[in-house]
Amino acid sequence: MCGIIGYVGHRKVVPLLLDGLRRLEYRGYDSAGVTVIRDGELVTVRAEGKLDRLVERLAGEPVDGSHGLGHTRWATHGPPLERNAHPMVDARSRLALIHNGIIENFLPLKRRLIAEGWEFSSDTDTEVVANLVSSYLDEEGDLRGAVARATRELEGLFAFALVSISGEREIVAYRQGPPLVLGIGERETFLASDPAALLTYTKDVVFLENGDLARLTEDGLEIQDASGEAVERESHRLLWDPIQAEKGGYKHFMLKEIHEQPQAIQDTFGGRVDFETGEVGFDYFSLDPEEAGAIREVHLLACGTSLHAGLVGKFLIEELARLPVQVDYGSEYRYRDPIVNEGTLAIGVSQSGETADTLSAMEAAKERGARLLAVCNVLGSQATRIAEGVVYTHAGPEIGVASTKAFTTQLVALYLVALYLRQQRGLPIGPEIVADLAHLPGAVDEALQQEGAIEEMARKYHLEEDFLYLGRGINYPIALEGALKLKEISYIHAEGYPAGEMKHGPIALIDQQLPVVNIATGDKVFEKMLGNMQEVKARDGAVIAVTDRDPSELEEIADEVLRVPRLSDHLQPIVNVVPLQLLAYFVGVRRGADVDQPRNLAKSVTVE
Ligand code: M6R
Repeated sequence: MCGIIGYVGHRKVVPLLLDGLRRLEYRGYDSAGVTVIRDGELVTVRAEGKLDRLVERLAGEPVDGSHGLGHTRWATHGPPLERNAHPMVDARSRLALIHNGIIENFLPLKRRLIAEGWEFSSDTDTEVVANLVSSYLDEEGDLRGAVARATRELEGLFAFALVSISGEREIVAYRQGPPLVLGIGERETFLASDPAALLTYTKDVVFLENGDLARLTEDGLEIQDASGEAVERESHRLLWDPIQAEKGGYKHFMLKEIHEQPQAIQDTFGGRVDFETGEVGFDYFSLDPEEAGAIREVHLLACGTSLHAGLVGKFLIEELARLPVQVDYGSEYRYRDPIVNEGTLAIGVSQSGETADTLSAMEAAKERGARLLAVCNVLGSQATRIAEGVVYTHAGPEIGVASTKAFTTQLVALYLVALYLRQQRGLPIGPEIVADLAHLPGAVDEALQQEGAIEEMARKYHLEEDFLYLGRGINYPIALEGALKLKEISYIHAEGYPAGEMKHGPIALIDQQLPVVNIATGDKVFEKMLGNMQEVKARDGAVIAVTDRDPSELEEIADEVLRVPRLSDHLQPIVNVVPLQLLAYFVGVRRGADVDQPRNLAKSVTVE
């Protein structure tokens, strides 16, 4: 939700800012802008719409300077127009500010500033901060002091960065909520809302804590904590490869990321499983048998695709670790009064580790005494900081807004968590229980071989306006995920349903215009799924089946069969989702949708 980049150093500033914005554009693409300091003046160029519009504008009026800021916006306050684009310059043209998050009390502050004679030209909460800081510049004497004073009056969750015409070659940044990562190079420093934006330039980074105020110069970083004390924050070395954040010959990040799944899955279980004994262990999460024995229930907290991973996780943890599991939307959990105590293990599942709703739910569980684990993809993100333990998914950077490899690696991570809880609770383990994991990357690769057939299928179905996805048991969440993928990138209405529920309502929808995607794998509910497909067929609906059976078994019923390899029931959802990801992708592409950056969405939803 909004991407922030900043740079002070010896390189050409604008190309670096644009490169960083290109990598951050998944966070919002309503407008983009840069500000550089040139000869002691602020030079700001902004454009409505995607980054390319800004690039075109800068090609027509090239600028550069000694240091600067860049921003890509996901609109919250005010429509996506140029006047609301960042950087936002204060009314006296002394500073420029980029911002991610929400200033909850911006209206009373705005009224006060207007009464004091400050003028506003945008509808944003951001401009309030620009004017507020500017109003304190003279009294405080420097930018850092003015920012420190202004932050004491701001409410909400936000991160921002500023440059000014003070003559100091500096960027001042503040974090209260959304992440800010600072990069350290040779006589240069960087700032971004996601480490992926910095990978080409440096791998040495520092994550700001909430309440931190930082000053970046070419000589390094100075950080003050919430009490104003100077602090050193731990430096981390990023392990992601910059190439992972490129399209690498694929037309879209989404397709590239779908294809990266075999490797990402391998990376997620690699080094954590002993295939000879069936034992599982993690670097940043452990429970001794006594602690594991004290857990009475598990709460899985997440949003969107990660919530669907949690729904699969419920099956895994209940069946393997024999613990009761609740799965909650982050946005719902925090506003009810969940029953939590020291016997609760809360697990926040989040690719980004930044999703505001998930974070609030995690905090709510922690405050009530739960033990807190994060299953997360992004090193140093807020979810990893508030949790006492972290199981990283090693998906690498996921740039496409639609989650694909993040989802399948979350499923692997939750499978490992379930096995670990089983082991630490003294239930029997053994090599047979993990054996199929070794086959999983190959099985996903095999599922990817259907790509050509699925592209063909998309040609046939891309003009449909509704889809139904049906699954049972552990594959019901895969039906939900298939439907979510289709609707978010192709804008086709799609619903996921437990197949057994179809006759309690959705069956009324079925006619020739409703393709129904059925997940019919494994033995447990295969016959039941056949029954559901018959019911669809009898009502003239198009039947699409994802199955691990020989297609001949379904030829009488299914119009289309997508074959996936067979694995154990617990791992089967991971291969089953692959054809659904490809179907959504090719339907979206065929409809001319922007699959990497679907309308109205952003990759990390850092506002409620
Ligand atoms: O970063 P998170 O996993 O916390 O994100 C949660 C959802 O916003 C995310 O999964 C969203 O639903 C995706 N766009 C789905 O593809």
